[in-house]
Amino acid sequence: MSGAQRQMNLGVFVETTGRHVAGWRHEGVDPLAPLDVGHYRQVIGIAERGLFDLFFLADGLAIRDRSAERLGRGPKAHFEPLTLLSALSMVSRHIGLVATASTTFNEPFHIARKFASLDFLSGGRAGWNIVTSSSPAEAENFGNGRLPPPEERYRRAAEFVEAVRGLWDSWDDDAIVADRDSGIYFRPDGLHALHHHGEFFDIRGPLNIARPPQGHPLLVQAGSSSAGIGLGARVGEIIYTAQTTLENAKSFYARLKGLAREEGRQPESLRILPGLFPIVGRSRDEAREKFDYLQSLIHPEVGLAQLEHHLGGVDLSGYPVDGPLPEDALPGEGADSRSGLLRHIARRDSLSIRDLYLQVSIARGHPVLTGTAADIADYMVAWFQEGGADGFNIMPGWLPGGLGDFVDLVVPELQRRGLFRTEYRGSTTREIMGLARPVSRYGRLNE
Ligand SMILES: Cc1cc2nc3c(=O)[nH]c(=O)nc-3n(C[C@H](O)[C@H](O)[C@H](O)COP(=O)(O)O)c2cc1C
Repeated sequence: MSGAQRQMNLGVFVETTGRHVAGWRHEGVDPLAPLDVGHYRQVIGIAERGLFDLFFLADGLAIRDRSAERLGRGPKAHFEPLTLLSALSMVSRHIGLVATASTTFNEPFHIARKFASLDFLSGGRAGWNIVTSSSPAEAENFGNGRLPPPEERYRRAAEFVEAVRGLWDSWDDDAIVADRDSGIYFRPDGLHALHHHGEFFDIRGPLNIARPPQGHPLLVQAGSSSAGIGLGARVGEIIYTAQTTLENAKSFYARLKGLAREEGRQPESLRILPGLFPIVGRSRDEAREKFDYLQSLIHPEVGLAQLEHHLGGVDLSGYPVDGPLPEDALPGEGADSRSGLLRHIARRDSLSIRDLYLQVSIARGHPVLTGTAADIADYMVAWFQEGGADGFNIMPGWLPGGLGDFVDLVVPELQRRGLFRTEYRGSTTREIMGLARPVSRYGRLNE
């Protein structure tokens, strides 16, 4: 990258029919898309047309939102991400394929093997979003049903990632010779058993798949607690984060890059991509109309459930949605900072229950930007140039239309400003993003 102007990295966060809780009801969305591989094929095609770096599928190991189970008002039946990405690896050529997998409810051998397989299938485009899983609903689907405390989950995650990296190094890059004449398939001295013995895992190894094309698939992290940020600083190459102001984004960015430096890493070896929910129009009025239309699709039961959740589990069912937030239904002052903030906003701006749930439902922690391509590019450029971001994780509200708008309108604007690529260069995701291919722990080749 030396000499050339620094450019943004862009990822797309693909949530079935879109980020917005009512995206599936949008007139341009097929409500049955979550289980239609053709839908994802279309979405990944648009993302590659927009020259995106990464295509990301988040995941949980349960229907985590218990209100959805009760209300039946959301697309909660969908694919397992690694399986879907394997299919999509066949219909895409350049974009990185990132899937979430939990370190709490998996074993390192499984994860190392699956991501190595995806890296081969895709020609070096696999990425693993390392999560520790925080929902009791997920724990209830495994083992003793107990969710370990966060500190233990992150200790396990650290050991898990170390073991996975070790397993990926099982085979030297040139271990397989496949020589018909001599009858030697691989050099035994190029194969390494891991012999890992730790607090959580005992793993002999080696892995029964060769070293992945990228050496190691990309490591992605999105923790926001101290333990989460610590793991990101040690091993994360892509960092996802929810930041709502440039000021906060800058301090998060500086903290993470500083910690990474202390770990002996180059700051450019991790890319911080805050989430961004864009609604783009050819004019501000058009963008506003799209926003209002989306918001009009939120069913009051869904909005209410979201608001109740954010208020710490209060029951608002007996109150008129167009009336004020009832004082007596709220937890006491200071009971919880988020509910305190919401109550404060409701009082200050005289918001009704509906006003408030409309605000809460759409953002879910990420900034929502409604405007023209130039408005959205201005915002992104400020964050990129002032030390708040290396790029963005774009969260389209509805799919494929919300991504199509971004690719058709915002991407050309960023390209005009010289801040985004005009073609893919390189073949693996590491090459395309300018991230180094890890050297095997067993040493360089041919030494
Ligand atoms: C953009 C983004 C994507 C995330 N994707 C997932 C996911 O797919 N599955 C999951 O369990 N957690 C996911 N998380 C949650 C994080 O992994 C993390 O648990 C959360 O930010 C809280 O931080 P902490 O674990 O350090 O407390 C995501 C977070 C962000 C910001």
